[in-house]
Amino acid sequence: MAGAAQHAHWSSRWAFIMAAVGSAVGLGNIWKFPYEAGEGGGGAFVMVYLLFVFFIGTPMLVAELSLGRRGQLSPIGSMKKIAQDEKKSHWWSLIGWSGVVGAFIVISFYSVVGGWTLAYMAKAAMGTFSGIDAETAQNTFVGYISDPVKTLVSHFAFMAITIFIVAKGVQGGLEKAVTVLMPALFAILIILVIYSGFTGDFAKTIDFLFNPDFDKLLFKPNTAEAIAAGEPATRFSLDTVLQALGQSFFSLSLALGSIMTYGSYLTKDVKIGKSAVTIAAADSAVALMAGLAIFPIVFAYGLDVAGGGGLVFMSLPIAFGQMPFGIVFGTLFFGLLAVAAVTSSISLLEPPVSYVEEKTGWNRRKVAVTMGVAAGLLGVLSAYSQGTNLLSDIKINMLGLELDIMGVKDFLTNNIMMPLGGMFTALFVGWFVTRKNMMDELALSDKTFRIWYFLVRFVSPTAIGIIFGKIIFDNFIA
Ligand code: PHE
Repeated sequence: MAGAAQHAHWSSRWAFIMAAVGSAVGLGNIWKFPYEAGEGGGGAFVMVYLLFVFFIGTPMLVAELSLGRRGQLSPIGSMKKIAQDEKKSHWWSLIGWSGVVGAFIVISFYSVVGGWTLAYMAKAAMGTFSGIDAETAQNTFVGYISDPVKTLVSHFAFMAITIFIVAKGVQGGLEKAVTVLMPALFAILIILVIYSGFTGDFAKTIDFLFNPDFDKLLFKPNTAEAIAAGEPATRFSLDTVLQALGQSFFSLSLALGSIMTYGSYLTKDVKIGKSAVTIAAADSAVALMAGLAIFPIVFAYGLDVAGGGGLVFMSLPIAFGQMPFGIVFGTLFFGLLAVAAVTSSISLLEPPVSYVEEKTGWNRRKVAVTMGVAAGLLGVLSAYSQGTNLLSDIKINMLGLELDIMGVKDFLTNNIMMPLGGMFTALFVGWFVTRKNMMDELALSDKTFRIWYFLVRFVSPTAIGIIFGKIIFDNFIA
């Protein structure tokens, strides 16, 4: 059994903030957000996303950090312990389970894309992108993700880095790494935004990202059969709103146990409310900057904004291939993207590791290797589901979407486990934990506490309930 004595802590508030921002800022911001915004129709998606981040996500960050700090155990252990303290059902530990299992699923495909960033860093360094045009950029990407050997190697290389850091523990090299590398990522992004702004189609980007078109967000084309049967060409749907909700959770590292686990390494003197706002602000800033860096190029070269997971990998190389010192910037960018991905993936491996460590009492190294390799093997399915790779023919229908294996894992976690996990967490802290205990743990000012409490008691559960309920209704009842 792991006792409180061996439970690690951050060395300072700054180290914690950098680690939490490191967890939040990752592929979700730079790889996923731009293409989801693109597929979701731009401005309206961005606006709804930001509303979710500030009114649901940030209060959730506060909730999860405080649960972790109070429990001082893995997400499962903490939830069990707090439910017990509060004399509530032990079933609340399911929130912890859903987080730990969800994190295990997510890291299995996160590491695949992490591997892509490593491969692209190498390509950039070797000058592969020099003078590249849009078509070659696309072929390069599809060729790479369709290669069973290359994708396997990069996936396991990325996983090995993650395992190595997690095995070393909380303060080990991680704290030092994040405090240097996160600011560097910011700097490179700013340079890219400026470059794209001057050379790409910036005006169209601003319009696309900030001029909301709610029809695009809320109405989906009807199926050919439905139209033939006399229905209108489009139908009202909350699918994309759910996608934005899931993305806001994903981007803030919520509902997968990561933030709760990082909260468990917090000392009592850190102010959770202020920290949560800092994390959310930094995370949103990076997502928007990624959009501002990528879309000018996408528009300038006539790429498809709804092009899916290849967007970053097919658009930015064109810019790197043309700009002065493109080899340097390209290598730096994909290198830093890899770093951003690593500082997130460690926080995904951490919840399963902390649980197994607690349960078995094995040493950290053994647990990190076991869990990392297991997730890595599960990830092979995702890696091989891309492009024309070995398992790319397998398509599974989920609520009307034809998804490959990676898409299924993403859908299950992003659109189902995370929103539901978030809803139950909000219900737990809002209705089942004693108000006084919550107040003591958070130490917010009276007014801030009341706003927070209102958001988690009413706003989050209702919003998630409505979005989710509508989807269930559309797909299973109507
Ligand atoms: N927030 C990370 C990103 O945006 C991904 C992540 C999700 C990490 C959940 C931990 C937990 O890339």
